[in-house]
Amino acid sequence: MPCPPTPPRSTPLVIAIDGPAASGKSSVGHELARRLGFLFFDTGAMYRAVTLAAIRRHIPIDDEQQITRLANELPIHVQPPAIDDGRRYTVLVGEDDVTWELRGSEVDAHVSAVSAYPGVRRALTRQQRRIASQGNVVMAGRDIGTVVFPEAPLKIYLDASAAERARRRYEEQLQRQQAADYEAILRGVRERDQIDSHRPTAPLRIASDAVVLQTDDLEQQEVVAAVLKLVHERLHLEIHHQQVHQ
Ligand code: DC
Repeated sequence: MPCPPTPPRSTPLVIAIDGPAASGKSSVGHELARRLGFLFFDTGAMYRAVTLAAIRRHIPIDDEQQITRLANELPIHVQPPAIDDGRRYTVLVGEDDVTWELRGSEVDAHVSAVSAYPGVRRALTRQQRRIASQGNVVMAGRDIGTVVFPEAPLKIYLDASAAERARRRYEEQLQRQQAADYEAILRGVRERDQIDSHRPTAPLRIASDAVVLQTDDLEQQEVVAAVLKLVHERLHLEIHHQQVHQ
């Protein structure tokens, strides 16, 4: 049965989903948005797009000034998926579809350094607020509930141990028929946790009013169900259970 749209509200509603790398923000956020008829917006894609552009233009990752300029100038568009190839959204830089390139290991290795630059964060936070002002949105990131939308009426913090997050990433890569090295992925996850949580500007931390979901022992659909329950209790939104297996 088609999902009736959620009734319009006077102000756009933001559901914030924060958490460390590979904690399931994107898969849970995407499914949640689909069930609610909201836009899903993964803000990590923007930091990744700036990182990819810097790599392609041979800008050294430690050149904060040039990378900040790039973040201010780069035309990044995160849109609903244009192609049915497993993507949850399409990312364009100008006309160029970079959706899958954003997931490459070189971007993984440098994105935390790029996202620690205050000027980069200012530029992207501004764009994220503008995009969310256009409608109801499930927004995933590291600082959505603390910095980008501290007034969001529902904030979820998804967590899992580094070992479990690395295992999920490893399985994902195998499923995509990519070469995968569990130990290397675990090292990468830990390094990014360290940088993301210790940077001075907008570090990864739990908003005081966030609901923390520890997901090590939960299947994705159990996490989605827990979040939907919170949406129902706190936001009183209509939820369409029959949509789950559409
Ligand atoms: O969620 P992700 O792995 O795609 O995020 C990539 C990087 O971007 C991550 O290392 C931290 C950064 N990031 C951020 O600093 N703030 C956000 N709101 C989203 C991502």
